[in-house]
Amino acid sequence: VRRVTTQTLQAMRAEGTPIAMLTAYDYTSARLLDEAGVDVLLVGDSASNVMAGHETTLPITLDQMIYHAQCVVRGVNRALVVVDLPFGAYQGSSREALRSAIRVMKETGAHAVKLEGGAGVLQSVKRILGAGIPVMGHLGLTPQSIYKFGTYKVRARDVEEADALRRDLRALAEAGAFGVVLEKIPAELAAELTESVDVPTIGIGAGVGCSGQVLVTHDLLGLTKDFNPRFVRHYADLAGTVTGAVGRYVEDVRRRAFPGDEESY
Ligand code: KIV
Ligand code: NA
Repeated sequence: VRRVTTQTLQAMRAEGTPIAMLTAYDYTSARLLDEAGVDVLLVGDSASNVMAGHETTLPITLDQMIYHAQCVVRGVNRALVVVDLPFGAYQGSSREALRSAIRVMKETGAHAVKLEGGAGVLQSVKRILGAGIPVMGHLGLTPQSIYKFGTYKVRARDVEEADALRRDLRALAEAGAFGVVLEKIPAELAAELTESVDVPTIGIGAGVGCSGQVLVTHDLLGLTKDFNPRFVRHYADLAGTVTGAVGRYVEDVRRRAFPGDEESY
């Protein structure tokens, strides 16, 4: 199969073909998602919530992100693999940001990094790009700043924040980011922003007018039942499937119905 590259994504944007992106944190899932045709796999710092059970994305470390990314890369033949730089691995200086990005590229075999923010991280974005590492941006509701926002509500509803978002997006596009995630902003604004740049926008809770969409895989598969924001569509009820299957296994073990003769030596 032909691998997805940042050029592929640019071509998809140009011809109006929507880009499908999902999160992945482990080998087995990455294989399934890659075989199902997902264009971009994001080793998201949402692993902090989904894999580790933390309340926010802040605690996950660069070493832990690198472990997840190594696992994902081994399962992928086609998709572009993007790795989140976690909180604390790039905000200190552009030098720290570059060092973290280089570690991700050297130690995992992933193809690109993603980091949150606009003007505040522009020097870091430029420095990483200068080293030949593709960078994806992330604007709107940026979860690493949750304690600044104080709420998970929709961002950029007012003119000032929308204008700041417009400027940040333009700056990232001009710096050479190969894509930008727009999280939880009004659909109309996201569509306007998407029209205003020649870089693909990937929406999550940002309406259908973006160049592509991203979701946390565990949310769309119905594995995370206590997380039900409006922007998630449940394509399966894997929580029900798993508890049902495991419940039958437990019952079979208890009544000595498993293993049978044909499952024994
Ligand atoms: O970490 C993550 O899962 C993300 C996506 C939701 C965009 O950053
Ligand atoms: Na993230």
